[in-house]
Amino acid sequence: MILLTGGAGYIGSHVAVALIEAGLDVVVLDNLSNSSPASLERVQSICGRPVAFRQADIRDEEAVHDVLKSYDVTAVIHLAGLKAVGESNERPLSYYDNNVLGSMRLLSAMQRAGVKTMVFSSSATVYGAPSYLPLDEAHSLAPTNPYGRTKFFIEEMLRDLYASDGDWRIGVLRYFNPVGAHESGFIGENPLGVPNNLLPFVAQVAVGRREKLTVWGCDYPTPDGTGVRDFVHVCDLAAGHLGVLRHLKAPGLFTVNLGTGEGSSVLQVIRTFEAVSGRTVPYEIGKRRTGDVAVCYADPVLARNVMGWKSTRSLTQMCADHWRWQTMNPAGYGA
Ligand code: UD1
Repeated sequence: MILLTGGAGYIGSHVAVALIEAGLDVVVLDNLSNSSPASLERVQSICGRPVAFRQADIRDEEAVHDVLKSYDVTAVIHLAGLKAVGESNERPLSYYDNNVLGSMRLLSAMQRAGVKTMVFSSSATVYGAPSYLPLDEAHSLAPTNPYGRTKFFIEEMLRDLYASDGDWRIGVLRYFNPVGAHESGFIGENPLGVPNNLLPFVAQVAVGRREKLTVWGCDYPTPDGTGVRDFVHVCDLAAGHLGVLRHLKAPGLFTVNLGTGEGSSVLQVIRTFEAVSGRTVPYEIGKRRTGDVAVCYADPVLARNVMGWKSTRSLTQMCADHWRWQTMNPAGYGA
């Protein structure tokens, strides 16, 4: 049995589908602070199998320990956490509490229960501003905001844990920019309030829920002046979690980027989204957003070499799948 923390969220629900479709048994632990139990009902309808669920917080070590024992868990995929950069600047202690302390309690519960296989959802944000591109895993780590620092500290904690006990099997996954949705249109990203990230915002403009997009900066040293990112389809990302579980058959710790290796600009995303949706996406040019970098994309070679993973879906497919989810669920899971 695999424990998925944060399994009711955007990435978690897609990972749940990938694991269940591969024949694995999954139990989800989620405090539902930024997710909906409806996502798990949707996962069940995609897979045709029930998903075990416990509403609990990763900071509740006893609850986690109980789930590990009662479900006979052999590995944990840890996705639970707060993830908004802006909010982390305003409420850093919440981020340290939920993410760092939460991970510590989770690891303590695992240690007590003798469960020593852990896949951790980290982020390319741990690199900070790139000093060279593409970003490989050897790049220095210098996150620029509290959210990014929580991911960095958790990575450090995992490295220390492995150094202290070589029986652990640990995979650290550094996600680039996850977008898109399951091709069924049943599950997808369900941002509460105003989306911070590009794709959900573009989708809400295209569907008419918001008037226009602000493009933050058109004077970057990039081909069209707008920011360039490595957008990766959430189903490719989900497949990476299966790859890492298969790879963790022996003790060890490894860290890999999950990205496509290709950068796309904000304007390219808008144009692609317009093409697949048949809608126009009105936008205006605004000032640069504080903390944004011009260009960020992965060197994805290590993930391919270590665990045979590579992304397979194009930007067009990412936008098409995001659009399907948006049109089938204009109000997200709230409908
Ligand atoms: C952001 C986070 C990063 C996190 C990632 C998760 C920041 C500074 N970074 O990355 O830590 O891991 O999300 O997916 O928030 N853009 C617009 N208008 C918008 C929204 C975005 O022009 O309304 C632009 C941004 O300036 C950027 C690109 O779109 O150039 C992508 O932005 P976003 O989706 O927020 O991702 P990141 O900033 O790369």
